[in-house]
Amino acid sequence: MKVLAISGSPRKQGNTETLMARMTEILEQRGGEVELVRLNDFPLQGCQACKYCRTKGDACVLDDPISELLTKLKQADRIIIGAPNYMGTVSAQLKILLDRMFSLKDSSRTPRLAPGKKAVLIFSQGNANQEAYADYYGSVQKIIESNNIEVNDTIIACGVEAPGAVAEKIEIMEQAEQAAASL
Ligand SMILES: Cc1cc2nc3c(=O)[nH]c(=O)nc-3n(C[C@H](O)[C@H](O)[C@H](O)COP(=O)(O)O)c2cc1C
Repeated sequence: MKVLAISGSPRKQGNTETLMARMTEILEQRGGEVELVRLNDFPLQGCQACKYCRTKGDACVLDDPISELLTKLKQADRIIIGAPNYMGTVSAQLKILLDRMFSLKDSSRTPRLAPGKKAVLIFSQGNANQEAYADYYGSVQKIIESNNIEVNDTIIACGVEAPGAVAEKIEIMEQAEQAAASL
């Protein structure tokens, strides 16, 4: 089982990655082959709106690490995508990947990813109100699901500011453990 964990946080030991690390630890114990990708390590180039992927080729025209990551998505069985909330939305690092996922559909908007992939989404926010950004997180989930990726669970770490503060939130950590176990 190939597990691709994609972090949209620039903080290596931040809240997104603390939850992700707990999940990948469990998945590794179950024999999963885990790869962690930090979007912040990439030179981040957004979608160029050239429509090459929809009209001429079957993949993004850009030759860069995001295109490589999109290929890895095709090979992954289980996917974890996480990001901090910045200004009410996901971090720019993850937003660029979401835009570039445009290339994962063909000219008739049929997903290029084979069905059968399962995912967990992780969102981390300073706001203690779990519902504060629920609509926005729901729209991110729709983007992921429209690409043939079934979202099993969405974990929202609320009221966490300092890097790794989520480790003290036993309920959220347990939620991540359960999400990993059922992935
Ligand atoms: C530039 C910036 C913008 C932020 N905007 C919000 C926001 O609009 N709402 C919120 O609840 N938290 C906001 N936060 C707080 C982060 O979402 C929070 O600290 C989160 O736990 C960081 O996740 P990480 O540790 O994985 O990087 C912001 C943080 C930064 C650095």
